[in-house]
Amino acid sequence: MNLLLPTGFPIPTPGFGTYKTPDGEVCVNAVREAIAVGYTHIDTAALYANECSVGEGVRQSGRPRGELFITSKVWNTERGYDKTLRACEKSLKDLGMDYLDLYLIHWPANAKQFGDRADAINVDTWRAMERLVEERVVRTIGLSNFYTSHMAPVLASANIAPAVDQIEYHPGLLQEDTIAACRENGILVEAWSPLGRGRLLDDPVIAGIAQKHGKSAAQVILRWVIQNDVLPLVKSVHTERIRENFDLFSFSLDSDEMAAIASLPEARFGSHPDTVEF
Ligand SMILES: NC(=O)c1ccc[n+]([C@@H]2O[C@H](COP(=O)([O-])OP(=O)(O)OC[C@H]3O[C@@H](n4cnc5c(N)ncnc54)[C@H](OP(=O)(O)O)[C@@H]3O)[C@@H](O)[C@H]2O)c1
Repeated sequence: MNLLLPTGFPIPTPGFGTYKTPDGEVCVNAVREAIAVGYTHIDTAALYANECSVGEGVRQSGRPRGELFITSKVWNTERGYDKTLRACEKSLKDLGMDYLDLYLIHWPANAKQFGDRADAINVDTWRAMERLVEERVVRTIGLSNFYTSHMAPVLASANIAPAVDQIEYHPGLLQEDTIAACRENGILVEAWSPLGRGRLLDDPVIAGIAQKHGKSAAQVILRWVIQNDVLPLVKSVHTERIRENFDLFSFSLDSDEMAAIASLPEARFGSHPDTVEF
């Protein structure tokens, strides 16, 4: 299934994640299998150090590049105008591709690390992102891990508005403020770690709902994300799980089930953008 980006380009949901997918055969096989199962949206990043294998998996799938949606991200050491341009060039070279469908700023520079220079750094990085669109090497640009305060200076100075914000989102981390800001600005929200890196799968509330539908806990969580109009990116290196995580449109959750999942206790499995030190 496709959602629509504010640019008018379609973006397939769910997307296939590759964080911590080991470079080499494991990654090549996972990406090829994912495409064989039906995913057409692959999420990688320079940080994951597996872009060469993602590119190889795509080529081995035999699927034409134009039918796929590929995302990468500029890493934190490469912020700023010139370095961001070079980082994108390197990602494209490693992927063996001549364009990206989506390029994201992986994390905002924050005040904890950069003091009152943080906003200017993010704005400078964004200028490079816009240049990449003008050069037609990137179709759509966006943010990742930007909460409302990080987003505001970029929005105020942008010639091309961010189309996406990719944030940690799952039961226990509802991100209401950031999602409200994204919706006000027409920004599509993507969920990273929708399964809480696998740690939400044993929750008894989710298990009960899964049993009722004859679905797995992973399918119930991913369906909950989709019904909240958020695009899940889900990672696995196991073919059966890759297949299972793609089968999300043959059932739906009712409003009581949606509310029960939304009221799970608070949980965060990754870093907070204001306190992150990398
Ligand atoms: N922008 C960012 O800062 C950021 C941060 C983190 C992640 N991401 C993106 O978001 C993607 C997803 O996040 P994530 O990888 O952290 O976590 P996730 O997708 O929530 O969870 C992945 C974990 O769950 C396991 N798993 C997957 N499907 C399963 C199933 N059906 N049954 C049981 N276990 C299952 C996987 O194990 P196996 O692989 O062994 O099957 C893996 O350990 C990433 O891969 C990456 O592309 C972005």
